[in-house]
Order: sequence, then C-alpha cells, then structure tokens
Amino acid sequence: MVPDREPPMANKLRNVPFLLVALTVPSCGGGDDLDAPIPGMPPVASAPKDLDGQVKVAFEACAVCHGTSGHGDGPGAASLNPKPRTFADVAWQDAVTDEHIQKTIVFGGAAVGKSPMMPANPQFKDQKDVLAGLVKIVRGFKGK
Ligand code: HEC
Repeated sequence: MVPDREPPMANKLRNVPFLLVALTVPSCGGGDDLDAPIPGMPPVASAPKDLDGQVKVAFEACAVCHGTSGHGDGPGAASLNPKPRTFADVAWQDAVTDEHIQKTIVFGGAAVGKSPMMPANPQFKDQKDVLAGLVKIVRGFKGK
C-alpha cells in the first residue's frame, strides 16, 4: 500500500507563509537599530547593555561553590574534594594568568589539570565581556 503523504505535505505548506513573515519582520524594524539614538533623547554614553548586571548574575552560579566572597565556602563546596581554593590566596593570584582563569571558566577544571568538579561554561566563550568581568571578580578577591 502506498502511504498517503498528503496530510504532512499540506501541513508543511501551511507553515510557509508563517515562516516568510517570521523571516521578514525583523528586517522591517531596521535590524540592528537597537543601539541607535532615540530622536529627542540624549545619547547614552557607550550604552553598555548592563554588563555589570550580567556579570553579577553569572557569578552567582560560581558563588554556589566559590562563595560570595570567593573563599571557596559556598553551599555547593561542602561535598567537593578537592574544595575550591580561596581566591584571596595572593600566591595563587600571582601564579596564574588571566588566560588560565578564562580557560578554567570556559573549559572547566579538567581542561587545566584541576578537578572536573569545576564545571565548563562554554556559553562564555563568545561573551568575552562577561568572561573578562568574571576574571575581574576573581582577581578582586586577592588578599581579601
Ligand atoms: C560545582 C561547583 C563549582 C562551580 C559552580 C564553579 N566552580 Fe570553579 N572550581 C570548583 C572547584 C572544585 C575548583 C578547584 C579545582 C581544583 O583545585 O582542582 C574550582 C576552581 C576554580 C578556579 C581556579 C583554577 C585553578 O587554577 O586553581 C577558578 C578561577 C574558578 N574555579 C572559577 C570559577 C568561576 C568564575 C565560576 C563561575 C562561572 C566557577 N568557578 C564555578 C568548583 C566550582
């Protein structure tokens, strides 16, 4: 018996007008005009998209293990072995490069010869500003 292909085909065709609308609508709005100055409004200096807020939210996930003060005493650290070091450690801060910290964050502990319990965060690979912000937070705990 020949399978009746009609209904699926009809369903696909019914989606075509919708797809065309979905594809054309964004370009009607002018595409990347989100950063364009609003007429009558003073231009916002460099218009950062609340980078600090983004970095803060990103670090909240780190703080689960690393602690809000970077001492490696977050609630998630209790069962970890080895535990996350304290970022206050001056000797460690001086021994590692920003690149090493970035690599640890993006690729995880296992990628730098550390505990695989330090998770990879591939989402930050293309969010260089957030990644740099996280490194800055880690650096900020030095000696604290
Ligand atoms: C599930 C717990 C956990 C989370 C979440 C976590 N880490 Fe870690 N992290 C660890 C552990 C455990 C280590 C220690 C690895 C070791 O010393 O072998 C570590 C180590 C590190 C190190 C030190 C690497 C080194 O060379 O000693 C840095 C920097 C770091 N984490 C940054 C972060 C940042 C930034 C985040 C958030 C994006 C984060 N971590 C999220 C568990 C975690």
